[in-house]
Amino acid sequence: MNIFSGLFITGTDTGVGKTIVTAALAAALRAEGIHAGIWKPVQSGAQLGSGATDAERLLRYTGIPERPETVALFSFAAPLAPLIAARQANISVTLKDLVSAGKTAARGYETLIVEGAGGAAVPLTEDCLTADLILELGLPALIVARSGMGTVNHTALTAFFLQQRKIPVIGVIMNDGTGDGLDQDPSVATNVELIEHISGHRVLGRFPVLQGEIHPQVLVDTVRKSIDLEPVRRALAM
Ligand SMILES: Nc1ncnc2c1ncn2[C@@H]1O[C@H](COP(=O)(O)OP(=O)(O)OP(=O)(O)O)[C@@H](O)[C@H]1O
Ligand SMILES: [Mg+2]
Repeated sequence: MNIFSGLFITGTDTGVGKTIVTAALAAALRAEGIHAGIWKPVQSGAQLGSGATDAERLLRYTGIPERPETVALFSFAAPLAPLIAARQANISVTLKDLVSAGKTAARGYETLIVEGAGGAAVPLTEDCLTADLILELGLPALIVARSGMGTVNHTALTAFFLQQRKIPVIGVIMNDGTGDGLDQDPSVATNVELIEHISGHRVLGRFPVLQGEIHPQVLVDTVRKSIDLEPVRRALAM
């Protein structure tokens, strides 16, 4: 039984586009009248208030009127894995603390789109990896993956790890926005098929490179054109 309705966005790595995809899914659901909120359980690498943290980017991209501290209660400036950044700040965070912050972030929302930090095996606290948090929350997961060379291995490893933990995966979103020279990369043409075959999960679409300022309407239009949202709607109705 899940603690609140939601979907956990994990990725094959850091910097694969989880923030953009999380914002895009939240914006698309909101455009359909679903009161979706966002949550980043732990973030590191930028100072809250600088505008560069994921919580602030998520709020800017979706237009959700929320406090960044509610979206990311545990925020550390050091550009280190969340656990190490927290240790350096002399703050002890536990899985229980994260679940409690999640309940606060979910308050008043119909559903919560949750962005992980890095990949599924990243330690978030002294007592949990990202996958442990997903399991504790009882949420289904979606994997964000790069479109180019190397993605089959990373995506399959992520899918197998989540499967081993018995976390339901609703699909994979490929992101064109983080790979250099995709037009020179012949693997792009076969990666989707290979990922579906090896992981057993559907690829719900390829997120294109966005130019210029990212705002809710751009994301809503992009999802409409590029992503099959039906498995997301179904997962949230569970
Ligand atoms: N489709 C896209 N179009 C344009 N820029 C993109 C796209 N996807 C990602 N980027 C850019 O690539 C960088 C990494 O993406 P992003 O921050 O979303 O990754 P992430 O997986 O959320 O990383 P983290 O693990 O730090 O949370 C950012 O600067 C982002 O703006
Ligand atoms: Mg991010």
